[in-house]
Amino acid sequence: MISRVGIFDSGVGGLTVAKSIYQSRLFDEIIYFGDTARVPYGSKNESTIIRYSLEALEFLKNFDINFLITACNSVSSCALPELKKEANFEVVGVIEAGIQAVKKVAKINNNILIIGTKTTINSKLYEIGLHELGYSNIISIPTPLFVPIVEEEAYKRGLLKEIFELYFAHLDRAKIDVVVLGCTHFPMISAYLSEYFYNATLIHSGEAIVELLKKRYHLVPKPITNIQFLASENPHHLKEVAGKWFKNLI
Ligand code: DGL
Repeated sequence: MISRVGIFDSGVGGLTVAKSIYQSRLFDEIIYFGDTARVPYGSKNESTIIRYSLEALEFLKNFDINFLITACNSVSSCALPELKKEANFEVVGVIEAGIQAVKKVAKINNNILIIGTKTTINSKLYEIGLHELGYSNIISIPTPLFVPIVEEEAYKRGLLKEIFELYFAHLDRAKIDVVVLGCTHFPMISAYLSEYFYNATLIHSGEAIVELLKKRYHLVPKPITNIQFLASENPHHLKEVAGKWFKNLI
C-alpha cells in the first residue's frame, strides 16, 4: 500500500516540518496543506483552532491520506484528541517529538527557553513534559509576532532586532542553553535566533518528528517521495516559499 501523509499547518511554517519529512523519505507521498486564508491560528480561541483543524482533516481526506502530521504546534497543543477521534489513521503532533528532542541534547540543569504562539505557550504542554523529564529551569515566552514576519518573508534584521528586544530584553541571553522553536514558522528565522542566543542549541519540530516517526512506527526510507503543495488562499505564494525553503530538493 502506498503511504500518503497529510501534513498541515496554518500557513507556510509547516514547510519546515514537511522538508524534514521529505528528506527522510519515510512516506511515498506527502500532501502539504497550508490554511493560508486563515493564518495565524495561534492567537485564536482553542475552539476555533479545533474547528479549522477538523476542516483541514476533512479536506485532506479527499486525497486518501493514511497518516496525518499536524505540523503546527498550536494545533498540536489543543486539537489532537478531536483529530484522532475523526481520523481512522494515525495522527501525530509535533510537541511530544520536541520534548524528546530536548532530552537528547539538554543537561538536567540547563536553562531552556520555549517560544511559540499564545495558544502553545498557554497550553503549557512543553513545560509539563519537560518538568516530567526532570527539567526545572524553564522559561516560556509567547512570540506571536514572528508568525506574520515569516508569512510575509519580512526577515529584516532591524525589524527582528526590535522584536527580539521587545520579547527577550529581560533575559540574560548568554545563559540560555536550549531554545525550543515551539512554532513551526520559527526555523525560518533560526539564523537570527542562533545569532541572538549564541550559546544555545535550537530545537526544530521537523527534525524532532522524523526521529519520533522512525522510533515509534519503524518507518524506513522509500526509494522516492513525491510532494504536493496546497493552500486555502494564494497557493502561488506558498509554492514560492516552498521553492526557496526546499531549494534544489524539488
Ligand atoms: N506554525 C504554527 C505553530 O507551530 C502556527 C502559527 C500560527 O498560525 O499562529 O504554532
